[in-house]
Amino acid sequence: MKKKLVQQVSASFKEKFGAEPGHIFLSPGRINIIGEHVDYNDGFVLPAAINKYVCFAVSENGTSNVNLYAKDLDQSYSFNLNDALQPGDTMWANFFLGVAHLIKERGLTLSGVDVVFSSTIPMGAGLSSSAAVECGFAFALNNIYSLGLSKEEIALIGQKSEHTFVGVNCGIMDQFASVFGKKNKVIKLDCNNLDHEYHSADFKEYSLLLLDSKVKHTLLESGYNDRRNEVEQGLAKLKAQYPEINTFRDLSEAQVEACKDLLGDVVYRRCLFVVREIQRVLDAVSALEKEDFKKLGELMFATHNGLSKNYEVSCEELDFLADAVRNDENVLGARMMGGGFGGCTINLVKKDAVNGIIERVAAAYKEKFNIKLEAYKIKISKGTSVYKNEHAGI
Ligand code: GLA
Repeated sequence: MKKKLVQQVSASFKEKFGAEPGHIFLSPGRINIIGEHVDYNDGFVLPAAINKYVCFAVSENGTSNVNLYAKDLDQSYSFNLNDALQPGDTMWANFFLGVAHLIKERGLTLSGVDVVFSSTIPMGAGLSSSAAVECGFAFALNNIYSLGLSKEEIALIGQKSEHTFVGVNCGIMDQFASVFGKKNKVIKLDCNNLDHEYHSADFKEYSLLLLDSKVKHTLLESGYNDRRNEVEQGLAKLKAQYPEINTFRDLSEAQVEACKDLLGDVVYRRCLFVVREIQRVLDAVSALEKEDFKKLGELMFATHNGLSKNYEVSCEELDFLADAVRNDENVLGARMMGGGFGGCTINLVKKDAVNGIIERVAAAYKEKFNIKLEAYKIKISKGTSVYKNEHAGI
């Protein structure tokens, strides 16, 4: 599938720009085992890059223009690097404009490029196609123009571009996972200081299965930024109450409970979720280390409940998908994944039961919502990388 994507993007580049592309880059989507909505709350997360990619074919063009062609949308967009770059009405172009702007802002010198890109990461499915685009473009420019940006800087540029040019106040998880992914490893990321360690993603007789609700989420239109405001308010009140704490990580559940009235019902539930979720990630990492997949699965279900009832970022369809496998002996855990309000559930499923479960859940889902469920059997893969360089060849 990766090869086919590369071939198609290369062919499209040749057609658009009249020559073979000088460079090919692959930038992956991500999953997250556990640790949802805690990356912007000083928590830990456990994501991994997957074998679904945005592929970029790129050549230097000797001008100051960036000429983009979004193959999947059949749309073109150009901008001049010498102009003051600002977000515009073409949403997808804002990812590129933002990245170029932030690189210029660092005082680094850029020249023009021709770009064709296409993706096998389904959009709006909670697999971070936008982070893959932002970081992939930053990675490409860094590589072609030897800008000297570290992987961490590339991830941070991607995140800031999302904040300033897209308008989503996201955390760092998606960009970090896309850039730092490693084959068959999950990343335990400390979102406080970006310290990270890799853990084996070998689930033995179990595997990860994504079930796509096909309910498209866009974080811009969803309650994502509202959630950020709610927890910010909550933390300010909690800090006033407990001057010794700095972040959610320093708080115990009991401390949050004790402030229920002060916080008010909604903010209380948001804060309770955050404190519990931070702990769940730590528990999940130790379960993973012990190969206690049953425990890991229980934690995933608990996360779903918290996201649905307390953080309120699930939806009827995602709840249905989690419930549909809850009592299945071949499924250890399931939960909605990513920002929420649509997208996928991630399921830890006995390998030889995967196909049966897809069939069963798809039928029930179709019956209930008249939506055709999509299932992805994903593999954990390496992060953003060069597929082809002018001098290296394919
Ligand atoms: C989106 C954001 C991430 C993270 C998740 C929820 O994917 O981009 O930063 O907050 O939602 O865990």
